[in-house]
Amino acid sequence: SVLIIDFGSQVTQLIARRVREGGVYSEIHPFQNAAEAFAKLKPKAVILSGGPASVTEGGSPRAPEAVFAAGVPVLGICYGQQTMAEQLGGKVEAGHHREFGRAFLSIDTPSPLFDGFWSPGTKHQVWMSHGDRVTRLPDGFAVIATSENAPYAAVADEARHFYAVQFHPEVVHTPDGAKLISNFVHKIAGLKSDWTMAAYRRSMIDKVRAQVGNGRVICGLSGGVDSAVAAVLIHEAIGDQLTCVFVDHGLMRLGEADEVVGLFRDHYNIPLVHVDASEQFLTALDGVSDPETKRKTIGKHFIDVFEAEAKKIGGADFLAQGTLYPDVIESVSFTGGPSVTIKSHHNVGGLPERMHMKLVEPLRELFKDEVRALGRELGLPEAFVGRHPFPGPGLAIRIPGEITREKLDILRQADAVYLDEIRKAGLYDAIWQAFAVLLPVRTVGVMGDGRTYDHVLGLRAVTSVDGMTADFFHFDMAFLGRVATRIINEVRGVNRVVYDVTSKPPGTIEWE
Ligand code: XMP
Repeated sequence: SVLIIDFGSQVTQLIARRVREGGVYSEIHPFQNAAEAFAKLKPKAVILSGGPASVTEGGSPRAPEAVFAAGVPVLGICYGQQTMAEQLGGKVEAGHHREFGRAFLSIDTPSPLFDGFWSPGTKHQVWMSHGDRVTRLPDGFAVIATSENAPYAAVADEARHFYAVQFHPEVVHTPDGAKLISNFVHKIAGLKSDWTMAAYRRSMIDKVRAQVGNGRVICGLSGGVDSAVAAVLIHEAIGDQLTCVFVDHGLMRLGEADEVVGLFRDHYNIPLVHVDASEQFLTALDGVSDPETKRKTIGKHFIDVFEAEAKKIGGADFLAQGTLYPDVIESVSFTGGPSVTIKSHHNVGGLPERMHMKLVEPLRELFKDEVRALGRELGLPEAFVGRHPFPGPGLAIRIPGEITREKLDILRQADAVYLDEIRKAGLYDAIWQAFAVLLPVRTVGVMGDGRTYDHVLGLRAVTSVDGMTADFFHFDMAFLGRVATRIINEVRGVNRVVYDVTSKPPGTIEWE
């Protein structure tokens, strides 16, 4: 197995995921418990994650010394590289050249880490996100690759099998990063591939059965892929001990509520309760414009409605949710750890203790595309499995500022036109997520010789593999022009359309 020591990076699970893709079992442990986990797990390799701290600050986290003394291969990434350098006798300084986003790596020396894909004298795209950098290497280390702003972009002590990189090989914007991690795990640490998605499904079904026993489970369906896969998986594990509840918060897209109900009741024959709570949600959101308040308000009412439904059903013991790993990492700081809260995801945020139900979250370790793979593994229809993600708080977080029924209507219509054009152009599957955002800004326009003073609509489309990092989708201008014309002609209340060309990071996918 591989032990991943977490220093609080937003993308630590991506490391686990890359290792999993290579068919190798891994466990993530926060740095505080790492010494104990290392002793218990006896891993064949250790990976040190990135993190938001600076090793130049007193009290910043370190890897257990035992890791470097045990004779196992170690790979340090970003903060992991810096603490490794510092702990082994090198030096780290707060960087004068902060690097965020794409950088180009020049390969200097052959290394088993690069074996089979990067050779000396070539240049490759990598993803950087750091402020500090290593300025002196520990004894035994040599530089194996450099970038313009990072003279120690990749370093190695080949004799001890210690490797350390400044960039992030775990994110998809380092296109060859998965191969690098695979080389570390397979070639350097000598681990075999014997772990698959079918194995994951079997082990999850067993885990759900063991957790639930004879208890009753209530599952919130959102209409998205995640809750659907969770529901089908749980249904497979425990049958009609499961009841699904679809809370319609009035923040769904055009026609979406009907689709969900039809699919589950008629197609799958899974017991489903449909609650129309739109009045309650919209009243609670009246006058709310702060994004976190919106998320928390929706989360709170969501739980309230659930509690009431669970009571009606006659008391469920468990609440099932399609929480994914990115929801967990982006909304919960590690206990005592330094990971920073970016957004409260309503699936996990604000679950009050007063709710006397335990959580069943069979997708908690997975990323979106792994959930899709699991959905296919479970026999869900391709059209459903391929749907773009849709956030729990729905259209509420696509209307910056106050939410009104009128704005929701405008946004629903505009969003439907945009998606219709994307489907017609055959681009739906090439895009991770596409949606419209109704801005709280009015601008002056001219239509049919008259002055207009209407809303601006933002269009967003991104490519991503996991939702953790993303690039804006490169539509051609003719396509964007067509969409803008149709929206302005067909949707009353919008007189200007703009396209968002921000990647993640530094932006997030949703606007709130
Ligand atoms: P961000 O905006 O954080 O979004 O880059 C990453 C992915 O998560 C989705 N998202 C949510 N999903 N509940 C969810 O189930 C939420 O509260 C939530 N907020 C964002 C977002 O649509 C994107 O796919």
